Amino acid sequence: MTLRPRGDGDHSGIIFFNLISFITQPLNQFPMSYYQRHVFFCINQREAGAICCNNHGAQAMRDYAKARVKALKLDSKSRRIRINNAGCLDRCNEGPVIVVYPEDVWYTYVDKEDIDEIIEEHLKNGRVVERLRI
Ligand code: FES
Repeated sequence: MTLRPRGDGDHSGIIFFNLISFITQPLNQFPMSYYQRHVFFCINQREAGAICCNNHGAQAMRDYAKARVKALKLDSKSRRIRINNAGCLDRCNEGPVIVVYPEDVWYTYVDKEDIDEIIEEHLKNGRVVERLRI
């Protein structure tokens, strides 16, 4: 993509066309993300009982998910699935929340069975778990 005007005159049309072409290029023309799937668990803890994900055991669920991904070898160089902590993701009332990239799919969960389903279906097989989606 070039945004440099060529020759004399008004080149705003060329610049606009190049900008629109860049913005609308298909997603498969962007480089692949480093991780196949990158999962962020909000583990935020607020004071005095205020609404937050860690009131629902988010830290323990994040630890469980990390251990399961490792046990299933989904964190290997060939699968490249990564579980990370996050601070507040600003969806506290829908929590506990996680978000999976690059798909940008948000989930809530209740227990380890929900985490197992997200790992098996989405992280391992690429199928979104609609019943847990927010
Ligand atoms: S505390 Fe988890 S989204 Fe805000």
